[in-house]
Amino acid sequence: MLTKQNENNTVTVSPVSALRGEIELPGDKSIAHRAALFAALAKGESLFENFPNSQDPLTTVECLAKLGIEYEFAGKTLWVLGGGPFAFRKPGDILDAKNSGTTMRLLAGLLAGQSFPSVITGDDSLLTRPMRRIIKPLSKMNARISGTRKGTAPLKIRGVKRPLKSMNYELPVASAQVKTAILLAGLYATGTTTVIELFPTRDHTERMLGLPVKKFGRKNYISISKMLNIPPARMTIPGDPSSAAFFIVAALITPQSEILIKNVSLNPTRTAFLKVLERMNANIVILNRRNPDGEPIGDIIAKSSKLRGCTVEGEQIPLIIDEIPILAVAGAHADGIFAVKNAEELRTKESDRISSVVANLSALGTRIKEMDDGFMLEGGRLKGGKSLDSYGDHRLAMASVIAGLSSKKEVTVKNMQAAAVSFPGFMDVIKMITYNN
Ligand code: S3P
Repeated sequence: MLTKQNENNTVTVSPVSALRGEIELPGDKSIAHRAALFAALAKGESLFENFPNSQDPLTTVECLAKLGIEYEFAGKTLWVLGGGPFAFRKPGDILDAKNSGTTMRLLAGLLAGQSFPSVITGDDSLLTRPMRRIIKPLSKMNARISGTRKGTAPLKIRGVKRPLKSMNYELPVASAQVKTAILLAGLYATGTTTVIELFPTRDHTERMLGLPVKKFGRKNYISISKMLNIPPARMTIPGDPSSAAFFIVAALITPQSEILIKNVSLNPTRTAFLKVLERMNANIVILNRRNPDGEPIGDIIAKSSKLRGCTVEGEQIPLIIDEIPILAVAGAHADGIFAVKNAEELRTKESDRISSVVANLSALGTRIKEMDDGFMLEGGRLKGGKSLDSYGDHRLAMASVIAGLSSKKEVTVKNMQAAAVSFPGFMDVIKMITYNN
């Protein structure tokens, strides 16, 4: 047995000698949230295959159900019956976004333009995360939305009697969630609302809603207008590249390994981590590139590699923000220095991902220095033999397991239940593809 999970959600991970096999992963979390929300805004039936059974996107679906949307989720198929932008019903209860920042921020944009009041809450982690970044722009559009004095949720949204006011808004933080919240509120505003982004972020909203994007210099201008008619959709949700990153790095840092991951999203705003790994000398091959439902997909092969360190910073950060914990594990196995700079946003995620990555890697024997906006580490082999914590953060839970598989001595990971937020079957896939001579 390579891994064991006890009833306290602690996993014991023993070092493995190889990873081999072919896998397919649950649908992409970001696309899934949007698929459900946009289907609710469309008039008619939408159908999504490979919809992930993970907590975050299902939380969005449950919140939509409280707003009167009919759905059915069976196997990996989600059916949604939408009624158009004005068919939502006042919820009988507080909406609970649980651990999901995407649910809270996107839903706030949609609810800002409704005539009825609503309240969105979340779990302890979500209740500490910054919400002024949506409260401010939505208020500028005349939405009546407020949070706590600290600028956190619960969010209280009072209904509006008149349409919201459109605006041009330059994003002060590079955030696809904030961008989407404003664009959704734009559906309820007079005229055209334009979001201007200085640094590109994931563009699923633009693609899925078919929004016009103009480039002036380095900036993207994304517009939406009240009259936008959102059609119902049929789509197979591509495998989540952020989940694929864990298996790719595991194969790269383990000798005699080769894995094939089929049907992964290759959206360029999501695959910058592959570019970083290639700069680190990773042996990665992409096959079968295609574009079936407006989102590029393909198959990825990753093989054992001799990695070398690198620095990631600036404009790259928003495009790899979710993969930094696992890139840090790759860096900890590379020759030389691996550094992350300009990534203060990591402190506002499901955990403070700068301090949680630093705590876990230093426990495993890596020399790592914490900085305000990132960290810098010296690569080498991980010693292991320690207990790590997920800090309640799904990406930390999974990155810690991969670190354990590649350490010299057994590692335990506490609070492994957090992985269910994006990938409940993670440990089953690990068991399927790991071997010990
Ligand atoms: C997401 C955007 C990112 C990302 C999150 C999902 C999305 O957050 O970290 O996991 O689906 O729009 P920010 O927009 O806060 O950077």
